[in-house]
Amino acid sequence: SILEMEVEQINKGKYKHYMQKEIHEQPESLTTTMRGRLLRGGSCKAKTVLLGGLKDHLKTIRRSRRIVFIGCGTSYNAALAARPILEELSGVPVTMEIASDLLDRQGPIYREDTAVFVSQSGETADTLLALEYTLENGALCVGITNTVGSVIARNTHCGVHINAGCEIGVASTKAYTSQIVVMAMLALAIGGDTISKQERREAIIDGLFDLPNKIREVLKLDQEMKDLAKLLIAEQSLLVFGRGYNYATALEGALKVKEVALMHSEGILAGEMKHGPLALVDENLPIVVIATHDACFSKQQSVIQQLRARKGRLIVMCSKGDAASVCPGGGCRVIEVPQVEDCLQPVVNIVPFQLLAYHLTVLRGYNVDQPRNLAKSVTTQ
Ligand code: G6P
Repeated sequence: SILEMEVEQINKGKYKHYMQKEIHEQPESLTTTMRGRLLRGGSCKAKTVLLGGLKDHLKTIRRSRRIVFIGCGTSYNAALAARPILEELSGVPVTMEIASDLLDRQGPIYREDTAVFVSQSGETADTLLALEYTLENGALCVGITNTVGSVIARNTHCGVHINAGCEIGVASTKAYTSQIVVMAMLALAIGGDTISKQERREAIIDGLFDLPNKIREVLKLDQEMKDLAKLLIAEQSLLVFGRGYNYATALEGALKVKEVALMHSEGILAGEMKHGPLALVDENLPIVVIATHDACFSKQQSVIQQLRARKGRLIVMCSKGDAASVCPGGGCRVIEVPQVEDCLQPVVNIVPFQLLAYHLTVLRGYNVDQPRNLAKSVTTQ
C-alpha cells in the first residue's frame, strides 16, 4: 500500500535501499556495539574489556580444551575473521564449524569444549540444531546474536548481544562488522591480564576506540567503488584473494558480490593459489588481491608478482601509501584503505566490498535488499 511504502521510505531515511543505509550506518552501529564495554583511563588505569553476559564464565572458557565457532553464511565468516586474534590472546585452539556440516558429520563435541554460536538473527535452523546437539554433548554454549530474546540467545548458557541495531537487507553488512568487533572483545576478555600481552591488548583497545573514525574514512571510497562497479558490470566472475586476518574478508567480499549482484565470485586463500586457482588466471578475469599491511604482507607481494607474471587483471587493496610497493611500475587498479591494528583490519577492508556489491547490484538492475531465492533468516533446513 501507499502507506507502507511511505513508512519504508521514512525508515530508509536519505538512502535508496536498506543495504545502502546499513553500510553507511557502520560508524554508529560499531559505536553502539562497543558502548560501555571498553574501559580506559579515569579511575581504572588499565585498559580493559567488560562483557557483562560472560564475566561469570570466563574462567571456564579459559580452561576449555578448545573453542569451536559455529555459524552459517556471513556469521561464519565473521568468526573466521576473529579466529586468529582469539587464538593469539587465549592460547586455546580455535576450530571452525559450518553448522550444517557439524550436523552432517555429527562431529565430536566434548564437555571440555566451549562452543560459540554466531548468528545475526538468532533463529537460523542449522545453527539452532547445532546448538541442541552441542548442549546434549555437554559443552559450554556461548551465543553471539543481534536479536535479544531470539532462540539462540535464550538457549545458550551465556553470551553477548552485538547491538548493531535491526538489520533489514538480506545481505548482512553492519552485523558482520559488529560481530567481528564483539569477537575481538571476546578475545580480549578471554585473554585476561597477562603482562606479556599487555601492550598488544592496549593497542587493540585503542584501535577499537578509533575504529568508527576509520570506517567513516573508508566509506569515502563510495564513488571509487561505484566506478569500479561500472567497470565490472558485465563480468561473469570475480576472484578475491586473501590470507591471514583477511582470508575471511576474501570469503565475505565474494559472498556479498555473489548474493546481491548475482555474479559468480569466489574467495580464495592466497596460500592455496598454486594448488588450482592459478590455472584460471588470464588477462580477462578480474582478481582482487587483499594486501593491506600485516605480517603476511611480503607473502601477498609475491602473490601479486606471480599473478602479474601471468598477466592477471588485478585490483589490489592495500594500506594508504602502499600503492607503489604493491604494484611496482603501475598497471593494477589500487584501492587504498586506512590502516588499523592488524586484527581489526577485516572490519575496515570489508567496507569497499560491501560498497562494490551494492553498486554492482543497482547498476545491473537487481533487487538489492531481497536477492533472488534468498531469505534474511533461514528457519528451515
Ligand atoms: C542467511 C542470510 C545471511 C546470513 C545467514 C546466517 O543466509 O541471508 O545474510 O549470514 O543466513 O544467518 P544468521 O542470522 O544465523 O547470522
